Amino acid sequence: MTATDSTEAVLSLRAPIEPASERARCQVGTPELDSDGTARIPETLPTYSDWPEVRSSVPRDEAVESRVAALLATMSVAEKVGQITQPEIRSITPDEVRAFHIGSVLNGGGAWPGDDKHASLQGWLDLADAFWEASVHGNAAARIPVLWGSDAVHGHANTYGATVFPHNIGLGAAREPELVRRISAATARQIRATGQDWAFAPTVAVPQNYRWGRNYEGFSEDASIVLAYGYEAVRGLQGDSLPDPVGSSVLACAKHYIGDGATDGGVDQGVATVSEDVLRNVHGQGYISALAAGVQTVMASFNSWNGPDAPEGKVHGSYRLLTGILKEAMGFDGLVVSDWNGVGQVEGCADDRAAQAINAGIDMVMVPEDWRSFIANTLKQVESGEIPMSRLDDAVTRILRVKIRSGVMDAPKPSRRPFAGDVSALVHTHLAREAVRKSLVLLKNRVNVLPLAPSARVLVVGKSADSVQNQTGGWTLTWQGNENSNADFPASSTVLTGLRDALGDSSVVFDETGESANPADFDAVIAVLGEIPYAEGFGGDLGDHSLDASLLYPEDLAVLDRVSGLGAPVITVYISGRPLWVNSEINRSDAFVAAWLPGTEGAGIVDLLVQGDNRHDFTGRLPNSWPRSPWQFELNAGHAGYDPLFPLGYGLSLHDSIDVALLDEAAPPRPHDTLSPARVTDTSPFRNLA
Ligand code: GLC
Repeated sequence: MTATDSTEAVLSLRAPIEPASERARCQVGTPELDSDGTARIPETLPTYSDWPEVRSSVPRDEAVESRVAALLATMSVAEKVGQITQPEIRSITPDEVRAFHIGSVLNGGGAWPGDDKHASLQGWLDLADAFWEASVHGNAAARIPVLWGSDAVHGHANTYGATVFPHNIGLGAAREPELVRRISAATARQIRATGQDWAFAPTVAVPQNYRWGRNYEGFSEDASIVLAYGYEAVRGLQGDSLPDPVGSSVLACAKHYIGDGATDGGVDQGVATVSEDVLRNVHGQGYISALAAGVQTVMASFNSWNGPDAPEGKVHGSYRLLTGILKEAMGFDGLVVSDWNGVGQVEGCADDRAAQAINAGIDMVMVPEDWRSFIANTLKQVESGEIPMSRLDDAVTRILRVKIRSGVMDAPKPSRRPFAGDVSALVHTHLAREAVRKSLVLLKNRVNVLPLAPSARVLVVGKSADSVQNQTGGWTLTWQGNENSNADFPASSTVLTGLRDALGDSSVVFDETGESANPADFDAVIAVLGEIPYAEGFGGDLGDHSLDASLLYPEDLAVLDRVSGLGAPVITVYISGRPLWVNSEINRSDAFVAAWLPGTEGAGIVDLLVQGDNRHDFTGRLPNSWPRSPWQFELNAGHAGYDPLFPLGYGLSLHDSIDVALLDEAAPPRPHDTLSPARVTDTSPFRNLA
């Protein structure tokens, strides 16, 4: 039985909710809510026998529709084609936005105004104003402001000075939808401070294979968590209802539709072959709840879906997925944006020629560099009828509808809006530190080594003990989250600085490799080990690699051998985007804390390591199952043969006296069914980088 079959077996155990009744329809997609209206993580995953029609919290408004129609009627074909075009800020100027009637721009990971990583708030606002002026005061009859989108996936992390929150995997450990809503609302204010309009978040993937390098961008392997979090993330970003006269809210974007976490072998941008039932009832849950929450944009996914009875191929080119299911069956009336040159992977398309993708249901094309030739080609394809004018009009209608609902059509320029230039909107130290505390999962605490007394004298080792870069991971200032130093994070703390604050400088000795100091001279050793930061493609996908600890910094591998068993208890803090097979590291630790990718507030980890006044306890629970073997790439609760070291939902508190027996450090032989997938697919943009 394959994992997919066993998922179906699990799903079949639950009575499907039959849509269609009016009462069911208006509730379909909306999670169970607490008395204060916050989504609850359901005990039982709601399942659907067909794609449900979801009633959005943003209802259709005939006044908006009339305004859209009136605007559309004034637009030339060139203005319509410009409106569906989304270049990247490094390849277009405000004057070109004006000349080509551009509807949206984005800054990709590692793109800043003036190519300055430390660009000031004013620098961001100046560029936002320039794009806005160019789009509003262009030579078109219609005054249609540009939308600027950004990957604010764990706070507005591309921006210098912004608080960076834990990545989604850490929030999944917190099991607190209300926290996700507060973080999303704070993120919206961060985005308003720099003048953008749109967060390419939340990611509502349900990662099922640890080979996938974007595992940490998902909240959990458990669709129930993703369902509740997707709902709250959208409401945190967009506010309770739209239109919004551009207060603190921004547009949200549920991504990547659909099946990004389901690909065979966890290959990024690969092929998902799950059944339609699994696609809907596992990987679709976050979209159903995001639509119910009123999400106005959805980003198409790079992957393909070839279900047993539905070989759709690339999602970017699938009419059935983008139009038949998302727009017609589920009733989504916002806009679908493609991913970065995603249209170029569709048969018959290229990065700058996208008729098949647009006809399938892509409304806005993210064409970072080749936007000029895209516009020229698209004008020809509309003229020839390859792209029907009705499809172009539908795409522009959706874009205009979203712009009116978001409030940008009637807003002043970005620098004149609430929170613009407001540094206090960028910094959310207390909220981030709370999130870090709630994300930590205690996996081992032998004879109650934790918490440390405030009088303790500690030795600190490990490559991630004093590295904000390693704490924040990918999608932070740079695309891959690397090439950053602590100086790039003015408002931040690390485990080391947190320990110094808690215990006093004289009680904390830092010896990164553990080669100098003698552990026996200390009350405890704190070892902070971690993965080297990565984002999509690149270092993230494991390809042929096992889950063994060699994904950690090489320097970290010998650290625990140097400091363990020498009289001082060892407390290991593990900074990573996914569980790995770390049996030997756990054996050499007296306490072991999974800290995921905590962001800029590393001191939140120390809040639970050292007994303080406002004493906190570990409340985090595993959002992903922890592997017993280096070959357990697909390890998901409810699947056949489920045999984790620590199960989904596992986590100790300081009062638990559970020791972990010595673990087997010999890697078992590779089972035949984990033959490595192709390192990259033939359509992956990373094919030349493998
Ligand atoms: C990337 C990612 C997507 C992101 C987009 C813009 O390739 O797949 O998550 O929003 O490009 O940076």
